[in-house]
Amino acid sequence: MFAQLYIIYIFFLVSAVVGIPVVNLQDQIFSIDGSAVPTRPKCTDPNNAKYKSSTCATRKSVRVSCESFSQPGTPVDTNFSCGDGDSCVNITPNDAFCVDDSSAQVWDNKNENEVVCSAPVSLVPPHVSFQLVAGITTYSTTGDPIRVAELQAKYDDNNSNIYTDYKYQENNYTFPIKQEDFSKKLSFCFYPGSNEEVQAVGSLAYVLM
Ligand SMILES: *[C@@H]1O[C@H](CO)[C@@H](O)[C@H](O)[C@H]1NC(C)=O
Ligand SMILES: *[C@@H]1O[C@H](CO)[C@@H](O)[C@H](O)[C@H]1NC(C)=O
Ligand SMILES: *[C@@H]1O[C@H](CO)[C@@H](O)[C@H](O)[C@H]1NC(C)=O
Repeated sequence: MFAQLYIIYIFFLVSAVVGIPVVNLQDQIFSIDGSAVPTRPKCTDPNNAKYKSSTCATRKSVRVSCESFSQPGTPVDTNFSCGDGDSCVNITPNDAFCVDDSSAQVWDNKNENEVVCSAPVSLVPPHVSFQLVAGITTYSTTGDPIRVAELQAKYDDNNSNIYTDYKYQENNYTFPIKQEDFSKKLSFCFYPGSNEEVQAVGSLAYVLM
């Protein structure tokens, strides 16, 4: 495990900002292979190669704000496409990334207007230089971000209905994981607010501080 984590951190130090989800559906620490590495959107225009921020445009594409290294200050939006089997997740207020659906939590409301949650995931404390963050983004069946009545994080799977972290009337919710929650399990939840079919993608990531 330590060897794997070491590799992850090296990867982060090279790629900076947003890193890898560390959990899987079965509650086990993920064994990292190439396919599990989330893709940070890149600035593809060589004249505007400096990454500024990004957000999910659709489930499969990221809108990336880029600027020139030599003359910053006039950001240009570019589109970045997620790979096959990836979904876009907003992971911080300023960063989105493409995460493999097998590493992310993906769930839906099956046209029911009730709170639906992902499988619980174990939280693994990050290395000291990193912050553990989480994000949920909700999509309509056409893949466009869709606003739901409430997005929630639920710690421990005890049907306690204690939601300490939540956001109303949005299509995405990003939040840092607090240190006191590192030993708990986290489920991502949403309340649709209508019977419309909503698909949600949730992910954890390490962010270099
Ligand atoms: C980027 O994608 C949006 C749709 O998400 C589209 O309207 C826009 O034209 C695209 N821009 C480029 C440069 O491809
Ligand atoms: C959840 O249940 C576990 C054991 O089943 C218990 O240790 C833990 O304190 C409970 N958490 C909450 C928030 O009730
Ligand atoms: C994500 O949520 C924020 C509010 O937290 C909102 O300002 C932003 O527009 C949302 N992103 C998208 C792509 O709609």
